Amino acid sequence: MTLTIGVDVGGTKVAGGVVDEHGTVLASNRRDTPAEDPAGTRDTIVEVAAELAREFPAATAIGIGAAAWIDAAGSTVLFAPNLAWRDEPLRDYVTKAVGLPTVLENDANVAAWAEFRYGVARAADSMVMITVGTGIGGGIVLNGKLWRGANGIAAELGHIQSVPDGHPCGCGRLGCLEQYASGNALVRFARAGARQEPERAAKLLELAGGDPLAISGRQITEAARAGDGVARDAFAQIGYWLGVAMADLAQSFDPEILVVGGGVVDAGELLMVPTRTTYRDQLKQRGRFPVADLSAAETGNTAGVVGAADLARRG
Ligand code: BGC
Ligand code: NA
Ligand code: ZN
Repeated sequence: MTLTIGVDVGGTKVAGGVVDEHGTVLASNRRDTPAEDPAGTRDTIVEVAAELAREFPAATAIGIGAAAWIDAAGSTVLFAPNLAWRDEPLRDYVTKAVGLPTVLENDANVAAWAEFRYGVARAADSMVMITVGTGIGGGIVLNGKLWRGANGIAAELGHIQSVPDGHPCGCGRLGCLEQYASGNALVRFARAGARQEPERAAKLLELAGGDPLAISGRQITEAARAGDGVARDAFAQIGYWLGVAMADLAQSFDPEILVVGGGVVDAGELLMVPTRTTYRDQLKQRGRFPVADLSAAETGNTAGVVGAADLARRG
């Protein structure tokens, strides 16, 4: 049995796990991400991986999935829209510090790989996934291979444009999908709705202590489940933009399956119903377009760890 270590690096946490070849997580640990401090983030990754490597001396490699643009060689973090990372030679640093061969990959690529290997796309040969969290990420698997592009930054699906001249994005463009369909967008839509129509946001405002600016993602899910109009609209809005993007992706790649993952997918049908409805509407055309399945991811919050560990096993 080969064991590898997966490390999932996001804007709020660094999560690690020891994973076997069936994708089972045998042990896990986590730390907060010092997001404004690249050296601290790097050292936190080393700490998480080293701790697991000490506990499991049989582990043979480390895989890192990071919320960042990774170069073609898989060695350097080029840029991260939502973290302070620039030009960081992370792979070799971790290899040296922990003493294990290390693979570095984008977080959404890694999550897509986990779904492709062990999740809802395990029977497919090609798939496209969008992760909906703080930001929006993408992963594309074509003919059984993760598609990394010429520069390693393929599948930056959060930064395709939804709205011309729209909301400014951390990547430098305007109107990116990330600004209309992410967890952050959900919160922005809900806060605006609660200010404009407080009477339709009674539950949401009650949960937020009466302050629209205190509304959080978790509260939006809870309020939407309780039937709050503004909370449900916020999900409908991000679902709409997600559905439009998914239809474009179906037309670009013709995958067997499209997958929605990331933390916000925990909201279940609140997100999936508007996403699927828009996706299907967009592809109606003359009834000629074969519409691929659009499913929620299955591997949940271990996707990053499991996918990164599997990529590490493959070297
Ligand atoms: C970044 C991606 C990342 C995604 C999810 C986006 O803003 O550009 O690299 O995969 O967020 O973390
Ligand atoms: Na990606
Ligand atoms: Zn962007």
